[in-house]
Amino acid sequence: MASIGLIGLGVMGQNLARNIARRGFQVAVYNRTRAKTETFARHHPHPNIIPTYALDDLVARLERPRRLLLMVKAGAAVDAVIAQVRPLLEPGDILIDGGNSHFADTERRQRELAAPGVHLLGVGISGGEEGALRGPSLMPGGPEEAYEAVAPIFEAIAARAGDGRPCVTYLGPGGAGHYVKMVHNGIEYALMQAIAEGYDVLRQVGGLAPDHLAALFEEWNRAELASFLVEITAHILRTRDPETGRPLVDLVLDRARQKGTGKWTSQEALDVGVPVPAITSAVEARFLSALKEERVRAAKLLPGPAPEAKGGMHLIEHVREALFATMVVAYAQGMALLRAAASEHGYTYRLADVAAIWRAGCIIRAALLEEIRHAFAEEPELPNLMLAPFFRHALAARQQGWRTALTVGVNHGVPMPVTAASLAYYDSYRSAHLPANLIQAQRDYFGAHTYERVDRPGTFHTVWHPNTASQA
Ligand code: 6PG
Repeated sequence: MASIGLIGLGVMGQNLARNIARRGFQVAVYNRTRAKTETFARHHPHPNIIPTYALDDLVARLERPRRLLLMVKAGAAVDAVIAQVRPLLEPGDILIDGGNSHFADTERRQRELAAPGVHLLGVGISGGEEGALRGPSLMPGGPEEAYEAVAPIFEAIAARAGDGRPCVTYLGPGGAGHYVKMVHNGIEYALMQAIAEGYDVLRQVGGLAPDHLAALFEEWNRAELASFLVEITAHILRTRDPETGRPLVDLVLDRARQKGTGKWTSQEALDVGVPVPAITSAVEARFLSALKEERVRAAKLLPGPAPEAKGGMHLIEHVREALFATMVVAYAQGMALLRAAASEHGYTYRLADVAAIWRAGCIIRAALLEEIRHAFAEEPELPNLMLAPFFRHALAARQQGWRTALTVGVNHGVPMPVTAASLAYYDSYRSAHLPANLIQAQRDYFGAHTYERVDRPGTFHTVWHPNTASQA
């Protein structure tokens, strides 16, 4: 009998099946198109991989309670597959949705499956194809007893952090797992855009060629910026187009696509009222990039600043500091959203554990995550990551470079939306006074929305007119 079944043999599904098999678990696999299963079984024969060609056969081969991992495209396909397998399942069986499903869809499906008594775990899986094969970061949520039943397999296949701990932990009921994966992806968007902005300003203002930039990212990846995304950026910048010999990155059309998880993070953050401007700016930067034709036209019509000095010898250092600070802010905002979501949605994860399972296997893995884990382990109620001693000092040491890098970008007309939004977030958060007093006054002026005062308690309304104050 197989320990687990897997439906959906896309690259992620195939690699997860191979990972599971190599860890000593029997896995029965199924794909809608028979040919795909046959090809997979031919290319990757393994005694622990059992190809099946009908859903009832797949289900019949599973140990009870049945554990069935769905690796199908998020959205309607998940509902369709659940509808097909549901009649074949018994109370206590466990469905595992390993796609990037919206957490609210996961919670709806959990309610729909409650009547037949089938458990649904929503599991964020990060690390791309390579991670799926060699060890992903797994973010599971749903009924805890269902998690217990899959934990041995998950712990065996997950990536391992430097301290040997597997990058998986139970994150809470409902859609907690998919929620954490959604926020992971929001942070992913911000980190990617921050790196792109550093690359852009160094290229446009600093005049650095891709090879030089690659060397720089390689160097950065050996120190505090060490992370998967910085590492792959160096690889990308080193890659040449075999046909033209030019850096391949220069031949890639500057129109970024997205599948929606970053946007969901921003939408959800708006719903719970948590500011995540680094993430939202990154989502919007992708929207702006998509306006390629408009931008090409506007480039001829809207002037930029007059050329000026190149930012001096220290631009590279400033950009490195700006990138580090922006990355810290991206994690800080994601963590702040996760904190708010825990009370909003009843999730039970500890932020230190979330940071711990992001230390390896996933796309946003970075040396920084050990510091983030440490910060929340030391102070679980920490309201914002930027306040933890390590990060407070790190930001203080880099804020001048952060400002200078951004100023250079602004003065040369190089857009750096995530860097700018992150610095504005930092400056807003550290402002004991914000101009919200004027906002309140404006609201009261045109709509009698009332305001509070700094010198006495109560609610006030004024007919705002120079020198005439009246209290309601
Ligand atoms: C991961 C990634 C992955 C995501 C891609 C593409 O953690 O392995 O987050 O799940 O699908 O990064 O996302 P976009 O198409 O939205 O850029």
